[in-house]
Amino acid sequence: MKHHQMMCWSNKFICFSLFLLLLFKAVAASSSSQEFMPVDGHSHGGFHAENHGHHKDEDGEEDEVFGDEKRKKRCSSSSALSRRSSISWLVQATEMLYIIGLGLGDERDITLRGLDAVKKCEKVYIEAYTSLLSFGLSTDGLSTLEKLYGKPIILADRETVEEKIDNVLSEAHGSDVAFLVVGDPFGATTHTDLVVRAKTLGIDVKVVHNASVMNAIGICGLQLYRYGETVSIPFFTETWRPDSFYEKIERNRNLGLHTLCLLDIRVKEPTLESLCRGKKQYEPPRFMTINTAIDQLLEVEQNQGKSAYDEDTECVGFARLGSEGQMIVAGKMRQLQTVDFGEPLHCLVIVGKLHPVEEEMLEFYKINSEKP
Ligand SMILES: C[S@@+](CC[C@H](N)C(=O)[O-])C[C@H]1O[C@@H](n2cnc3c(N)ncnc32)[C@H](O)[C@@H]1O
Repeated sequence: MKHHQMMCWSNKFICFSLFLLLLFKAVAASSSSQEFMPVDGHSHGGFHAENHGHHKDEDGEEDEVFGDEKRKKRCSSSSALSRRSSISWLVQATEMLYIIGLGLGDERDITLRGLDAVKKCEKVYIEAYTSLLSFGLSTDGLSTLEKLYGKPIILADRETVEEKIDNVLSEAHGSDVAFLVVGDPFGATTHTDLVVRAKTLGIDVKVVHNASVMNAIGICGLQLYRYGETVSIPFFTETWRPDSFYEKIERNRNLGLHTLCLLDIRVKEPTLESLCRGKKQYEPPRFMTINTAIDQLLEVEQNQGKSAYDEDTECVGFARLGSEGQMIVAGKMRQLQTVDFGEPLHCLVIVGKLHPVEEEMLEFYKINSEKP
């Protein structure tokens, strides 16, 4: 009996010990899982997607999630925690370069997807060299964008895009960076180069598309399928009058195709004298008008003499496409030469062979008075 009682007590003791052991493990597990919770209280799975931006930490200071020393120290306080965190830091180390199209009108033309991306990026650049938002890049224009996006925007001028773009790209190695482009990112050749450079450096790139001048010209009724090679018309100077666009227009017209002429933009161009002196000074910004483009086109035709077009060739002039004040006028070159298209940006289409439906639609934009 005594022996049986002893056995019973020892069994009870073993069970109790096991119970205590299990209880201890459960408490330890729950406390360590609490340690893994980020400061903003989200579960770890959602943390990576949610953790951009600033958070107030326990001592009330602004705590920048990426690159923050406090968080790193906090992470190193537990070995298990630091193992988990090191994985998350590794994931965060390769962040995203978002190249986001803004469309053609104003700040509200950004897509919802584009806006989401901007909101989660730590740095936002806007490219102000290959295009221009219709309301311009005045201080007001920029602050409207900043107000809508809720963060400061850094202007990337020609120098930044052409000479210092690697600085922007190196930032995208450790954080999400947005690069805003007026129109569509691929409406200008420059941005293909940006994607190539980023990918070469191992940076992930996401593109958010938007309307471009390349498709907005469809509004005049000329079918986008019936265009040939697009040409760029540069400002002529006293000594530099390039005419390589002529051959392309000639080729398009021989095939009966329309030609989109993009007109030169000169923003932050260093003056020749300042380049010689080695200290950069910049010319005031210039945007080619349709009138200047036609003057130059006719001058080249006169020099080449191959009748690719003449002053009676049908054209369509577009100004500020996609904005409230857009202007579209169809007519002969000599007619459009006299039209005041107003504020930039302008572009011109040299009309090819017309389909009856195109002809019908173009009638809505025809200039009223025939010049004698
Ligand atoms: C490099 S392209 C356009 C790039 C822009 N990323 C896009 O997708 O529309 C720039 C040229 O397109 C033309 N352009 C751009 N936006 C325009 C607009 N809203 N109205 C008329 N022409 C425009 C101008 O001739 C300008 O010099």
